Amino acid sequence: MLLLSLFFYFQLFFFAGLALALINFSIVFPFLMRLLGKGCRLIRKGLSKSNSSLTEPAKENPFVFRFETTDDKWVSVQNPFRGTLVVGGAGSGKTETYANAIIRQAVDKNYCGIVYDFKYPALTNELQAAIEAAKINTVKKNEVKFFTINFEDLKNSNRVNPLHPRYIKSISHAEEYATAIVNNLIPESIQRTDFWVRSSIALLQAAIWYFREERSENCDLPHIVRFLQSDPKEFLELMRQHPICQNLISSILTAYDRKADNQLAGTIGTLQLALNKICAPEISYVLSGNDFDLNLNNPEAPAFLALGNTPGLMDTFSPVLSLITTVALKMMNEEGKQHSLVLLDEAPTLYIPKLETLPATGRSRKIAVVFMCQDISQINDKYGNTKKETIISNLANQFYGRVSNLQTAEYISKLVGRKDVRMENFGISSTTSHSYGRRNSGTASTNESLSHGYNWQERPVLKPQAIFGFKQGQFASLIAEREDHLSPVFVANYKRIPPFKKQSTVL
Ligand SMILES: Nc1ncnc2c1ncn2[C@@H]1O[C@H](COP(=O)(O)OP(=O)(O)OP(=O)(O)O)[C@@H](O)[C@H]1O
Ligand SMILES: [Mg+2]
Repeated sequence: MLLLSLFFYFQLFFFAGLALALINFSIVFPFLMRLLGKGCRLIRKGLSKSNSSLTEPAKENPFVFRFETTDDKWVSVQNPFRGTLVVGGAGSGKTETYANAIIRQAVDKNYCGIVYDFKYPALTNELQAAIEAAKINTVKKNEVKFFTINFEDLKNSNRVNPLHPRYIKSISHAEEYATAIVNNLIPESIQRTDFWVRSSIALLQAAIWYFREERSENCDLPHIVRFLQSDPKEFLELMRQHPICQNLISSILTAYDRKADNQLAGTIGTLQLALNKICAPEISYVLSGNDFDLNLNNPEAPAFLALGNTPGLMDTFSPVLSLITTVALKMMNEEGKQHSLVLLDEAPTLYIPKLETLPATGRSRKIAVVFMCQDISQINDKYGNTKKETIISNLANQFYGRVSNLQTAEYISKLVGRKDVRMENFGISSTTSHSYGRRNSGTASTNESLSHGYNWQERPVLKPQAIFGFKQGQFASLIAEREDHLSPVFVANYKRIPPFKKQSTVL
C-alpha cells in the first residue's frame, strides 16, 4: 500500500513537472528566439555601420577602376564602360588623382586603347612606365604594346598614316575623316554647317576617296594636302574622271564650268587656306609611315597609343591628332574586340565627330571612355549645347573638383542634391487687449511673448560657393551601379597618385 501511494505521488510530480517544463519552454523559447534575432540584427547593423558610405564591398571585377580616399577607403567605378567624366579647374588635381590612377590600373587589367596627352609628355611617360612595369611583373601571351605620336620630339615618336586605304572602308569613313580635319582647322565650322563648310568637307572627302581609288600608294594626308594646294583646274579635272568623286563635288564642278570664280574661291580658297596650317614638315614626317595599326583593340595584337599635343601649337597639331583619334575610334568600335580605354585629358582641345555617341555605342564593345576637362563651358564651346548634354548624360560616372565658373558650380550643387535641414526659429509675438469703461473711456495693454520652435527646410547639400573652395583632390562624385547601401552621390578627398619617375625614353 505504501509502495502504491509512493508510486502514485511520484507519477503526479513527474507529470506536473513535465507540464510545467512545457509551459516554461513555450514561454521562454519565443523570448529566446526574439533575443537571438535581435542579436543578429545588431551584429548585421554593426557590420553595415563599419561599412561606411564610401567603402566598396570586396567584390572585384576584372575591369573596375578604384580610387583611394585620404581616410583609406576605396571608391570603385564598377562599370567603367558606362563612361567617366572628370571636371575640375586648372590645378584641381584631375591628372594626379584620376588620369594617373586610371592609366596604371588599365595597364594592370590588360586594357589597350588611346591616351590623349594634351601636355606631352606627362601622361605619355606615365603610360610607358606602367607598360614597362607590367612587362617586368608578368609574362602575358598577348602583351599590350606601347606606341606614341607627337610632333615635337620626333626621335621619340612613332609614325602612322591615318588615311591608309585600309582605314577608309567606305565613302562615309572618308566623310567622317574629312569632317574631323575641317572642323578642327576651322572651329567655327563645327556649329555653323553652311554651304561653304559642306562644300569644303565634300571637296576633302572626294580627294581622300580619289587617292584611295587612284593613288593608293600615296594615300596619306601630306599628299592629299599637296594635291588640293595645286591648281584647282588640274585637281577638279582629275576628280571629274572618277564617278563617285564627281558626284561628291558636283556643285563645285558646276561653279567651275560656269566660271563662277567667287563661289570657287569661297570653297576652294577657304579649304586651301585652312590646310596651310598642317603643312609642317614634322607632321609630314610622322604621317609618312606605318609603325603600327590603328586597330588598337585587336585581341591578337592589342596596343596602347599615347597621343601628345603641345598647348602652344595646338591649332596646328589638334586637327591631325583628331584625325588619328577619329580613325582609331572607328576601328575600335566593333564587336569582338579586347576591352579598351579612351582617356582624353583636356578633351575639348580636340573635336572628334560623333564623340557624343561613343560612350553609348562603345559600352557593349567594352570601350571605357574617360573625358576630362576644366569646365563644362569648354564642352559647350566645342560641341554646342545639344551635344554637350548628350556627352554629359552618356558619361555615367562623374567627378567634379574645384571650378571657378558659377554656372558649373550651380550645376554640380544641383547634381549633389538637397537635404532637409531642421531649422530653429525664434520670434516675438505681441497681443494688445482693450478694456472699455462706462463713459467711453478705455485702456489698452500689450503683452509680448517670446516664441521658439523648429521647422524643416530644404537646403543644397553642397552650396555652389563651397565648390569654389574645394581643395586639390577633393571631388563631388557620382558613381553609377553602386551597391544599394552606398550613396551614389557624395564628396570625398582622394589620394594623390604622383607621377612615375621616368627611366628612359627609348621606344
Ligand atoms: N589628390 C590630390 N591630393 C593632393 N594634392 C593633389 C592631388 N592631386 C593633385 N594634387 C596636386 O595638385 C596640383 C595640380 O595637380 P594636377 O596636375 O593633377 O591638376 P590638374 O587638374 O590636372 O591641372 P591642369 O588642369 O592644369 O592639368 C599638383 O601640385 C598635384 O601634386
Ligand atoms: Mg591635368
